[in-house]
Amino acid sequence: MPIALIILAAGKGTRMNSDLPKVLHRVAQAPMLVHAMRSGKALEPDHTLIIAGHEADAVAAAAQDFDESAQVVLQTEQLGTAHAVAQAAPALEGYGGDALVLYGDTPLIQPETLEKMAEARAAHDIVVLGFEAADPGRYGRLIMQGDSLERIVEFKDANAEERAIRLCNSGVVMASAPLLFDLIAAVGNDNANAEYYLTDIIGIARARGLSATAVTCEESETLGVNSRAELSQAEAAFQARARAGALDLGVTLPAPETVHFAFDTYVGRDTVIDQNVVFGPGVTIETGAHIRAFSHLEGCHVARGAVVGPYARLRPGTELAEDTRIGNFVEIKNAVIGEGSKVNHLSYVGDAEIGTDSNIGAGTITCNYDGVLKHQTRIGNRAFIGSNTMLVAPVSVGDEAMTASGSVITEDVEAGALAIARSRQSAKPGMARKLMDMLKAKKAKRDKGIL
Ligand code: UD1
Ligand code: MG
Repeated sequence: MPIALIILAAGKGTRMNSDLPKVLHRVAQAPMLVHAMRSGKALEPDHTLIIAGHEADAVAAAAQDFDESAQVVLQTEQLGTAHAVAQAAPALEGYGGDALVLYGDTPLIQPETLEKMAEARAAHDIVVLGFEAADPGRYGRLIMQGDSLERIVEFKDANAEERAIRLCNSGVVMASAPLLFDLIAAVGNDNANAEYYLTDIIGIARARGLSATAVTCEESETLGVNSRAELSQAEAAFQARARAGALDLGVTLPAPETVHFAFDTYVGRDTVIDQNVVFGPGVTIETGAHIRAFSHLEGCHVARGAVVGPYARLRPGTELAEDTRIGNFVEIKNAVIGEGSKVNHLSYVGDAEIGTDSNIGAGTITCNYDGVLKHQTRIGNRAFIGSNTMLVAPVSVGDEAMTASGSVITEDVEAGALAIARSRQSAKPGMARKLMDMLKAKKAKRDKGIL
């Protein structure tokens, strides 16, 4: 069945106590809105409509950054969820497919759950996603009769008996688009909030003899974020799921609760990720790599058998080939490190290309930035960069070349050459002792108050 997504994202989120609109707060480093869009994308929608209101420009920018084809519709006044969905009607004029309503503040819904709803739609006019709440709190309650969903009652409007129901409304609804808009047209705002409730369409549909049902999912999927506390709960739920997913895929996590994944982290099987590793967006790690403790990775690709850390930082544009070694206190940015090469200690490698089996000595720095422009460093295969070499880019070091420790390399080094770029050592016999005696004498005078 062709489908259009309608994602509600106009609310201010007063309880977030923030200048940022609620749906742009991040879970696993992506705006909550993007999580909702990603889940919906699994159904291959024909249209994605974002209902924006508060800070609509920022919301639109985030939506289109993820999916250029997303359309943003303004809801200038937030008069309730039914009113919000109604704003999508003009954009879907003449569209005969289904509409799926998602919330921009409900980031954890799984694509499989939406697929289950699509299956249930084959037998019912309207399908609502519900969940058994441990603490139903202020959620809307689903009033069921067997398999049939009779109506949804909002907490504020519910009586004691209805409030005792633990089956709650997630807010996610699926129905044919023309039917949805038709039902919404019949919704009024005579309720405790004086709002147009989307939830009212169920009672209206049942009164017309249409059928409605509920599909259920884990409560953790439907967590709706209204406060910073709930945002941190959503983050915790996301991380719990990501860690369990990694373990299932054959990743070893000796301390899973200390590893933090981003929304799009990919880790291949037989990789080991040690304690306190943090992933930013855009990381892929192939099989059999080892990411050691306290490393931070972002926007990078790590090939098979590479070992990273402890205490390494891989920044965007890092490409580690197979069997590379990146050691402690090493930062790599926008650089390709060729197969078998090593950058083991205390180095910065930025805007660089390193060939295969090269060794980059401790304390090596690519001086890539002149204050205005960034420049490239190229190092060939089997090169040896001595400890504490400064590579002042743009510069290149050829295959099998060497640089002497402590060199400041400002000119290209040809293949096979040894470059020494430091002042020559001179020795003054006995001078150390003399100097020490002088200094001690000076101190003695100062202590006596002579100097
Ligand atoms: C809603 C449901 C409730 C459900 C709960 C799940 C209604 C009437 N109630 O309540 O049954 O249990 O979600 O979390 O639907 N929004 C707009 N425009 C508006 C109003 C809301 O875009 O005019 C957006 C909000 O930004 C938010 C979403 O719709 O993303 C839900 O609105 P919210 O005010 O949080 O609804 P709840 O009171 O939580
Ligand atoms: Mg809410």
